Amino acid sequence: MSEMLQDQKMNNREVLISQETIQSRVYELAQKISSDYADEEPILIGILNGVVFFFVDLVKALTIPVTIDFIRASSYGSGTVSKGAITYSKDVEINVKNKPVIIVEDIVDTGLTLNQIIKRIEKKGPKSIRICALIDKGERRSEEVILDYSGFQVEKGFLVGYGLDHDERYRYLPDIFVLK
Ligand code: IMP
Ligand code: MG
Repeated sequence: MSEMLQDQKMNNREVLISQETIQSRVYELAQKISSDYADEEPILIGILNGVVFFFVDLVKALTIPVTIDFIRASSYGSGTVSKGAITYSKDVEINVKNKPVIIVEDIVDTGLTLNQIIKRIEKKGPKSIRICALIDKGERRSEEVILDYSGFQVEKGFLVGYGLDHDERYRYLPDIFVLK
């Protein structure tokens, strides 16, 4: 196997969050959401693409009926820090008016992306909005975001795996690693 492919498999790298740890935490989040929304049928809106692994595991672990949709937002430019300017290549299609909405995100870094998406969904007149993020990365937070459901707190580092990418690579890995 070529060196580049070897590197993509993250062999010999230390796992930051193992698939077993992810699964048990996702299960706990699903239990909490299921009890908080016992009398409602929330719409879960996943932010593509990074969220897909987390989203599917979370939704399957819920014990309440829900509907699902997705939004795809891209910030301009390629670096590893988002600039806050966003374009949408897929918008929410389900009517969220007067419905409880839970926005599901993979990782919150500066908070810029999530805050813009929250504003966009607020304009559609939902009954309520809560936020569920797998990873809350504290170090570079520049805009306050209230995470109602948060899986893991990580101080810093660029994380890959379980949906998280670096230039579209590493998403397929079942565990989460720090990209060195
Ligand atoms: P924010 O606007 O700075 O909060 O950036 C949020 C988006 O940047 C996330 O939805 C991810 O797509 C991406 N991102 C931020 N940190 C990481 C990371 O450590 N690994 C992979 N993607 C990240
Ligand atoms: Mg994302």
